[in-house]
Amino acid sequence: MRKQNVILAARSQNLLSELATELSATGIDVQTIVIDLLNDSSHTELFNEVEKRGLSVNILINNAGMGNYGKFYKLPLEDHLITMRLNNEVMVRMAHEFIIRNKGKEHRCYLLNTASTASYQPVPKMTIYAATKAFMLFFSQGIRFELRKSNISVSALCPGPTESQFFEPAKMDEIWHKNKKYMMTAESVARIAFDGTLKRKAVIIPGFFNKLGAFAAKLTPQTLATQASGMLFKG
Ligand SMILES: NC(=O)c1ccc[n+]([C@@H]2O[C@H](COP(=O)([O-])OP(=O)(O)OC[C@H]3O[C@@H](n4cnc5c(N)ncnc54)[C@H](OP(=O)(O)O)[C@@H]3O)[C@@H](O)[C@H]2O)c1
Repeated sequence: MRKQNVILAARSQNLLSELATELSATGIDVQTIVIDLLNDSSHTELFNEVEKRGLSVNILINNAGMGNYGKFYKLPLEDHLITMRLNNEVMVRMAHEFIIRNKGKEHRCYLLNTASTASYQPVPKMTIYAATKAFMLFFSQGIRFELRKSNISVSALCPGPTESQFFEPAKMDEIWHKNKKYMMTAESVARIAFDGTLKRKAVIIPGFFNKLGAFAAKLTPQTLATQASGMLFKG
């Protein structure tokens, strides 16, 4: 079960090709689809393209996401709206399409939505991002219960700070440089995420300190938790 063929979908053809070459060397079949998920009908186009290639998806990982760093009113409204669209609307569209196409089938299917430890409390200066991630966590847990007697298992992934390309477009370079040494690698997060998905965990929080942070945020009054995250992200 661990060795799966994959279909990678994103906008950057060159990065998709590089990753496909790397993964193919492990002996799996890797397909790539260049798509901008912000386009209205991209969710149906993507699944139709998969079907056209004679393939089907039994594990969907909704991972595309973005964030913007800065005071809410100082950032362009359009940036906030695009973040909300990608992190929430696109994920909902993809999840809906996946469930419609797979519910009732004989084989087990898995849906993994990448939320964040930011799902657990408001995060000043990343307010919209944290709110979209809270939505993802609640959404995932809600549909998980709705689907509990079906062949589809739903999990939410809540990573903490992880080495990736996330920080540059989010204008968080300084924070990235300061905290790089405390970050998990994308590979270790992906391994834990995949194991947790196959074990049908409701919520997967990679790393001891991220688990501790999420647990502490749940136990702390929200005003205090907001102050604490506001101090951490003051830049
Ligand atoms: N890094 C962290 O510290 C951290 C912590 C918690 C949660 N997360 C979450 O983890 C997920 C992955 O982020 P990451 O850290 O790996 O950042 P990343 O390196 O920026 O990856 C984002 C991915 O989303 C794809 N993407 C973005 N916009 C897209 C669009 N319109 N259409 C199709 N694909 C699109 C990007 O590919 P293209 O640009 O080629 O389209 C890229 O593959 C996100 O949901 C993020 O919120 C990250």
